[in-house]
Amino acid sequence: MKLGVIPGDGIGIDVTAEALRVLDAVLPGVEKIDYDLGAARYLRTGEILPDSVLHEVRGHDAILLGAIGDPSVPPGVLERDLLLRLRFELDHYVNLRPAKLYPGVATPLGGAPEIDFVVYREGTEGPYTGNGGVLRRATPNEVATEVSVNTAFGVERVVRAAFRKAQSREKKRLTLVHKTNVLKFAGGLWQRTVDAVGAEFPEVTVDYNHVDAVMIHLVTHPERYDVIVTDNLFGDIVTDLAAAVCGGIGLAASANLNPDRQSPSMFEPVHGSAPDIAGQDKADPTAAVLSVALMLDHLGEAEAAAKIESVVRDDLAKRDPENPGGTREIGERLAAAAAA
Ligand code: NAI
Ligand code: MG
Repeated sequence: MKLGVIPGDGIGIDVTAEALRVLDAVLPGVEKIDYDLGAARYLRTGEILPDSVLHEVRGHDAILLGAIGDPSVPPGVLERDLLLRLRFELDHYVNLRPAKLYPGVATPLGGAPEIDFVVYREGTEGPYTGNGGVLRRATPNEVATEVSVNTAFGVERVVRAAFRKAQSREKKRLTLVHKTNVLKFAGGLWQRTVDAVGAEFPEVTVDYNHVDAVMIHLVTHPERYDVIVTDNLFGDIVTDLAAAVCGGIGLAASANLNPDRQSPSMFEPVHGSAPDIAGQDKADPTAAVLSVALMLDHLGEAEAAAKIESVVRDDLAKRDPENPGGTREIGERLAAAAAA
């Protein structure tokens, strides 16, 4: 197995080291190829994602990414030309983000609600394609457009992947999240696609929620969700709230999948580079470690993936919320348990 590793910037570097420590503990011998990409390289050489690097990573089995972004680089430069470019070029049309409240983890909702759902966020279309522009920039007559692109092909493939997932889960429940009452054209395509594909999955119960209502339900009745399928922008927002209700950004993992396996999928914690705590041994590496579990699951190493999840579950149940340990300490603890 050949793994491309992009630690990136800030705490991306801190948490990736621990994620690899845990990977080595459950599955020794994975070949890792390290890529120096992110703010430091950009500032040094002006390069963001050289074509030669993109070509090389295409040949790997998967990519593990830490985080990208630094205050020294104008916002959007690295996000668009590195992160989004990887997702688009490698056709990561499913952005999978599990939302699970582990036993012992405090939620701002209070109590111990049963939260266990996955979000299938479309990853290659919507308002993220760069289809737009400005006219008369920085004048009182400026015009700015950012067009949401939704294709029948693009919507169907992510909806189909979400239905397959729902079919494999116990509750077998799929919720389409959109804003069909206002966004009639895109919403219509999504709704009709869910209706059509859903006919092939008679065991799956289908539901629909407007995205604004999800902001309420996720806080009042998070148990109602099993599989959510939604567009790129709504998925971005829904998953941040989902991470918050499940104990915070330090625990939220994600996968950028090419389910057809025509290119390597990419696994990364949901959080960013957190410059405020970078290099201080303060970042929680758990999200990065859980991203490794998603990666192993995708690569057919289900046993190793389950091992990581159970080790994380045990550790979270025993953690002192006031004093969970530093980045390295948590990584070493998880790795030791995983190797046992
Ligand atoms: P952020 O996720 O980096 O940090 C938000 C807050 O959460 C900060 O207070 C941070 O200290 C805390 N935090 C984040 N991860 C944590 C962890 N593992 N353990 C403990 N605390 C943690 O988001 P922010 O501050 O908006 O962005 C910082 C930089 O990261 C920006 O350049 C942004 O563009 C970039 N970014 C990159 C992402 C990626 O690489 N996928 C995703 C989100 C932001
Ligand atoms: Mg986000």
